[in-house]
Amino acid sequence: MAQTTLISRAQIDQRVAEMGKQITADLQGTEAIALCVLKGAVFFCTDLMRQIGMDMALDFIQVSSYGNEKYSSGVVTILKEPMLEMRGKAVLIVEDIIDSGLSMREVHRYIEGRGAEVVKTATFLDKPAARKVDFKADYVGFSIDPQFVIGYGLDFAEKYRNLPDVQVLTD
Ligand code: IMP
Ligand code: MG
Repeated sequence: MAQTTLISRAQIDQRVAEMGKQITADLQGTEAIALCVLKGAVFFCTDLMRQIGMDMALDFIQVSSYGNEKYSSGVVTILKEPMLEMRGKAVLIVEDIIDSGLSMREVHRYIEGRGAEVVKTATFLDKPAARKVDFKADYVGFSIDPQFVIGYGLDFAEKYRNLPDVQVLTD
């Protein structure tokens, strides 16, 4: 398989800093929780949190994903529930990439169901042309064409997560 760089480390750092500033301005004064969607968003989430200039708790959620396939099964189940009390809080869901939108629609609904007062979504990458259900993130790092990408947390069959930049994986 071949790999080509799509988004460089410098572009990532600059965009994440911008997103952090905007989120700080929007969530200032709230009791906020960053809810990192395991496992892919871990890299983005830790960088983003360090660019947010207000106190923020951290929690994790994990949903079923692609398994070892490049395409979604379309069925989303919650594999790991968050630990923190969400009632009355501002929850910032932090995701690596939105593709069909199925995962985020499910996580968003679930967090609303836990009584969060504000639910926002920050995604590092967005593939708007790949949507199967309508879902719009509040904060988007980069919109990309519907191609399969790896690196900066994103994997293919659990490989390539620790690449420092974003690369396109082609057969
Ligand atoms: P959705 O439910 O179809 O929106 O899928 C979102 C999830 O699929 C993401 O959180 C990723 O784990 C995975 N995913 C979607 N596209 C890619 C990709 O291009 N590379 C790696 N993982 C992807
Ligand atoms: Mg994911």
